[in-house]
Amino acid sequence: MYMASPKETFDRLKASLQYHDELYYKKASPEIDDSTYDRLKKEFETLTEKHPELVTSQSELFSVGDDRTEGFITVPHKVPMLSLDNTYSKEAFIAFGKRLEKAFSDSTLQMTVEPKIDGVAVNITYKNGQFMRAVTRGNGTEGDDITQNVSLISELPKQLINAPSYIEVRGEIYMRHDEFERINKQRISKNLETFKNPRNLAAGTIKLLDFEEAKRRRLNIVVYSVGYYEPSHLFHSQSSVQLKLKDWNFPVLEKFWIADDTEQAWTHIETLDTLRHNFAYPTDGAVIKVNDFTQQKELGFTAKAPKFAIAYKFEAEQLETVLKDIHMQIGRTGAITPVAILEPIQLAGTTVSRATLHNEDEIIRKDIRIGDTVLVQKAGEIIPQVLSVNYSKRPSDSKAFDFSEHLKSLNIEAQRDDSGATWRITAIDDPIQRQRALLHFGSRSAMDIENLGIAIVEQLVKNFNVINPSDLYSLTIEDFLKLDKFKEKSANNLYTSIQASKSRELWRLIHGIGIPNVGKQAAKDLEKVFQSLDKLGQASFSDLTQIDGIGSTMAESIRAWFGKPENQSMLQKFKAYGLSLESESTAKVSMKQSVLMQKTVVITGKFASMTREAASDLIEHAGGRVSSSVSSKTDFLLAGEAAGSKLSKAQSLGITILDESDFLKLVES
Ligand code: IVH
Repeated sequence: MYMASPKETFDRLKASLQYHDELYYKKASPEIDDSTYDRLKKEFETLTEKHPELVTSQSELFSVGDDRTEGFITVPHKVPMLSLDNTYSKEAFIAFGKRLEKAFSDSTLQMTVEPKIDGVAVNITYKNGQFMRAVTRGNGTEGDDITQNVSLISELPKQLINAPSYIEVRGEIYMRHDEFERINKQRISKNLETFKNPRNLAAGTIKLLDFEEAKRRRLNIVVYSVGYYEPSHLFHSQSSVQLKLKDWNFPVLEKFWIADDTEQAWTHIETLDTLRHNFAYPTDGAVIKVNDFTQQKELGFTAKAPKFAIAYKFEAEQLETVLKDIHMQIGRTGAITPVAILEPIQLAGTTVSRATLHNEDEIIRKDIRIGDTVLVQKAGEIIPQVLSVNYSKRPSDSKAFDFSEHLKSLNIEAQRDDSGATWRITAIDDPIQRQRALLHFGSRSAMDIENLGIAIVEQLVKNFNVINPSDLYSLTIEDFLKLDKFKEKSANNLYTSIQASKSRELWRLIHGIGIPNVGKQAAKDLEKVFQSLDKLGQASFSDLTQIDGIGSTMAESIRAWFGKPENQSMLQKFKAYGLSLESESTAKVSMKQSVLMQKTVVITGKFASMTREAASDLIEHAGGRVSSSVSSKTDFLLAGEAAGSKLSKAQSLGITILDESDFLKLVES
């Protein structure tokens, strides 16, 4: 096998890094994602450490990229804008922390943990509190003057109250997703090339020479540190900077932590990972800094990065992949959700092969087509979603997706809601199918209803309009007397055996209702896990496939069954006729727990000891109802960490707020 020499590898990596730097920094149109770039860079660094003789100029080594472009005045930075060392592993972070602990073993060490914002770095100068100038990072030593476009950012204060004579504030400019989509959509309609992601569009926008166009795009900013300032004794720590920036009315980090040791810092990093998706700005990692400025100075810098700080990057959560097909998933109310079937990708530690496409309008809005290369995001517990289409990779023969045609080709009869964008399946009615369903329901391996043979079933469907098994329980002895060859005794017997079936074990009912693909054994397995038909109906695809013996076909068919409105109404009728839809043991327990009986509870935020689903199970178990939005009808708001607008709304409506421990006490009582 041919082995490249170190020099050849050096040249290849250098050229490759230069190429990708140019695309990222100057053209705002990268071809590879951050983690791939970081890997290339790491490979280059390892090689140059091993072969320092290959490096002929220091500039080859310590590049922080260069965003300077033609048409801008370059301005030198009074304090260089450096880059940060990146790490992706816990071990590397712990090693960094331990090094710091060792360096300051005689004094107290504190570290701040901050969100790492994936935006475009900017340095903004204020003289006597007055906004003067905004400059890009450039090559770290000097950057482009982007004052005019930055002045358009409305949330950036233009005048600071009680400000020092001179201060540079540093932060990141970013663009929100909805704005990104709005702009791309317009570009499609004008046959212009679209932007790849919000970061690139933000980078492109601050460099727009066309001020009128810049005015039409909305940018946001968040600041987190300072560059040069006078007087020099103004700040003593990173945390004091954060507080002061907030005082001055800058949009600041929604959250940052102060840790007393490495382990604590790690815990905060993990917490940040769970919270960051609720932040307004894209957060792709944590930045951990020594808090005290004197200690920062003592540690100093390498040529490209400070030794007192490190970036810990979370695993990639957005990647491109090919959309192979669109499936239609039928929900509990019969609503149809289009699901993207993807070429599988690794995202945030899991394989993603499906993503929601929400509804027909979303597909039209983004012009999503089968065969497209799409940007997929998996954020926290949120279902993976298709964020955008990379139109530049669209196959030339692709066709717009026709929702209604696609449903037809799948033999799904459905109608679009008059209001809203949802398609729903319409019921099918077929007497032979009804008979089959009744026979199966009464069979030995299901509800075991004696005397319910084919001849009787045929008459029940024909004469009494029995539509589904639940209608059996509405029939009386008088009704049965009207059946062919029926006398008092036979009518009585049939009535008694139908009524007797009401107290059968739950698995018999699960099997009897005729969910396609669910046999007797599967019904038993499902009873064991869910203990109630309601819970089975609420189980997600992944809840189901986690059960031994339940594969994806069965899971899909269970979800589809419960999604049909006619099946839901059948379940309601079963309840009304007194069938228990729960396992016997569960039925007894839930009778006792009545604290939240008939109460409406809204859940928001995250909990330390349970998932939201678990909380919702507990509420339902205690007789309560879970609702997704706060209104005057809400009785309780169960609020966990990082509760947002629902909490403030509930407070304003005077609704009782339960925290996790209140709630657990309440359900336990
Ligand atoms: S502090 C000496 N804090 O990430 C560099 N940077 O990869 C100190 N960034 O150049 C930077 N969020 O553009 C710092 N909370 C944060 C940050 C942050 C994002 C950017 C910044 C920096 C780059 C390094």
